[in-house]
Amino acid sequence: MKLGIMGSGKIVEEFLSIVDQIEHIEVVSLLGTPRSQEKLGKLAQTYNIEQIYTDRQAFLADDNYDTAYVAVPNHLHYEFAKAALEAGKHVICEKPFTLNLAQLEELVALSQAKGRILIEAITTLYLGNYQKIRESLADLGPVRIVSCNYSQYSSRYDAFKAGTILPAFDPEKGGGALMDLNIYNIHFVLGLFGRPKGVHYSATIQTGIDTSGILFLDYGDFKVSCIAAKDCAGPIRSSIQAENGAIEVVGATNTLPELNIQLGNKQTEKIQANQYNHRMVAEFKEFCRIIDQNDQEVAREQIAHSLLVMEILEAAQQSAQLELG
Ligand SMILES: NC(=O)c1ccc[n+]([C@@H]2O[C@H](COP(=O)([O-])OP(=O)(O)OC[C@H]3O[C@@H](n4cnc5c(N)ncnc54)[C@H](OP(=O)(O)O)[C@@H]3O)[C@@H](O)[C@H]2O)c1
Repeated sequence: MKLGIMGSGKIVEEFLSIVDQIEHIEVVSLLGTPRSQEKLGKLAQTYNIEQIYTDRQAFLADDNYDTAYVAVPNHLHYEFAKAALEAGKHVICEKPFTLNLAQLEELVALSQAKGRILIEAITTLYLGNYQKIRESLADLGPVRIVSCNYSQYSSRYDAFKAGTILPAFDPEKGGGALMDLNIYNIHFVLGLFGRPKGVHYSATIQTGIDTSGILFLDYGDFKVSCIAAKDCAGPIRSSIQAENGAIEVVGATNTLPELNIQLGNKQTEKIQANQYNHRMVAEFKEFCRIIDQNDQEVAREQIAHSLLVMEILEAAQQSAQLELG
């Protein structure tokens, strides 16, 4: 896979620092803004990237790469992914995929019309520990309670309280606890259990944005709470409680660093089945395989999952009367 990257922020720097662990990915182009020209130059030098651009049209006209990685702020995902698909590129897009379901449906239709792969960069789904949780569910018996908590005091919250609204807290830019952090919990839960029967989001809303909140997902036979906060810290933990045992995830739902699995009267087993130290290696290895082998079947499954997540996000926003984007 030859990759062109859109954006040069935090996640791109993190990705570039591990890209040499992924055979078959070559980063050939990088797009940024004119204000980040100097940084683009430094990244290009450090990581041997052939071309840097500050003009999107010129970047998209470059035919030295086949896949665009959309890693710009949330509110630009739709526009950038659409432009890349129109230019004939495959697209890997950061989370949250788009600001609403209609935007994602439009991108999916466009990717199909163009015969290109479109996939969401959501680390959870590709981690060895996630696979281990899936396999262990059968031994747990009937699930009754699932709870996920991803609470992290945001470095931008103090500015927010002082009246400076950065994208992470901007309703127009897809900010807030649901879109930024709870989205990982939603991917985690929906990837294991599918579509819930009921969705209710109860949020603390300050100047139009959910700074924290609890999402309740009703699966009939069992209930799920997904907590995320950007206005306070808390224990970042998840658990799946069932009649024959429980799984505890120690750490966040986008990294799943360690599992404690307890079955019946047996001793708790500590599991660490993630294949790599960094959470992004497994997902990008799989994206590379899907695109290089044109694995439409897996790509379709992943898109169906992303569409469901977007549908639930939208239902959650509506239930909390949140108007984003
Ligand atoms: N999967 C994960 O674990 C994870 C973790 C963190 C973030 N993310 C996602 O990744 C995305 C980026 O997050 P981040 O933390 O990297 O944000 P960030 O540090 O603010 O970086 C955003 C980047 O986009 C660039 N940009 C903005 N407008 C642009 C434009 N018109 N053309 C080209 N580049 C433009 C910015 O350039 P300037 O600096 O010049 O404005 C900056 O380089 C978000 O959607 C976020 O949700 C995912």
